[in-house]
Amino acid sequence: MIEVVQTEILANLENKSREFTRIFHGRGGCFKGFEFLTIDSIDTLLFVVFFDKCDETIENELVEFLKTLKTKGFNTAILQRRYVSKAPSEVLFGESTHAIENGLKYHLSFLNHQNIGFFADMKKGREFVAQNCRGKNVLNLFSYTCSFSVVALYHGAKQVVNVDMSKAALNTGRDNHYLNDLQTNCVKFLPFNILKSWSKIRKFAPYDLIIIDPPSFQKGSFIASKDYSKIIRRLGELSCENTQVMACLNDPILDERFVQTLFEENAREFVFEKRLDNAESFKSLNENRSLKNLIFRRK
Ligand SMILES: C[S@@+](CC[C@H](N)C(=O)[O-])C[C@H]1O[C@@H](n2cnc3c(N)ncnc32)[C@H](O)[C@@H]1O
Repeated sequence: MIEVVQTEILANLENKSREFTRIFHGRGGCFKGFEFLTIDSIDTLLFVVFFDKCDETIENELVEFLKTLKTKGFNTAILQRRYVSKAPSEVLFGESTHAIENGLKYHLSFLNHQNIGFFADMKKGREFVAQNCRGKNVLNLFSYTCSFSVVALYHGAKQVVNVDMSKAALNTGRDNHYLNDLQTNCVKFLPFNILKSWSKIRKFAPYDLIIIDPPSFQKGSFIASKDYSKIIRRLGELSCENTQVMACLNDPILDERFVQTLFEENAREFVFEKRLDNAESFKSLNENRSLKNLIFRRK
């Protein structure tokens, strides 16, 4: 039967175009025993899904066959195993895609999420961390895929504590360290809702450098206009003399003054030092509407 499937796939690839095309639709039931399999041709990407676990010999034979399709106009082949929890993806051939910034690499994923795993507009923020982390205990709040952590560790931070409620993002974050040959024994990955986990975050305090990079609006998780002050209020108990804070906000409506006022009202021991420039290619006509990275220091 596997030969019939292979013939079908090759036939459907005969007139391959750049259009999204389903080249094997096992789910449709026409190929008995292959209901677990779909294959899509997406421009130069071959996207394969195993919905259920099948006989291991067939699975291996299929994978080997799929790898030969490289000669059919595909640069990359991704296999997603839906029968495994969290549906991990593996690259059958081609490059697993990553972004490179100042020599460090970050995994990208175009498969499951709206965000691709890396916020390119934060370049200047990462450069600030690189220049200010040596020997420091760093708290990375809303860490996502831990790009700040990678930078900090690479540039000699003593410890980095990453906190994000998304376990998947933290897993990619851990992989981002390995991608750069960085060991994670001085790195914590805490999968918690920050607003409800202050005692766990306090456990590793005091921090010398605190990064706050929340979403501006994530329904049910964080709404900057009402929740940002809850973070600023906690800075006293997380910091020590000279602690630096990089408070970020990427909201087109709330401006720089919004964050400064939060500090004046809730963390008076901190003084405002400067706002970081944005990377050239992310500058906008009205900088109030773009990313704001504000640096504060505890007296
Ligand atoms: C803008 S991204 C952070 C980007 C990241 N700092 C970077 O440099 O790539 C926002 C992150 O906040 C997380 N998040 C939102 N609300 C949260 C909450 N209440 N507790 C913990 N994490 C939260 C989301 O899971 C998401 O990963």
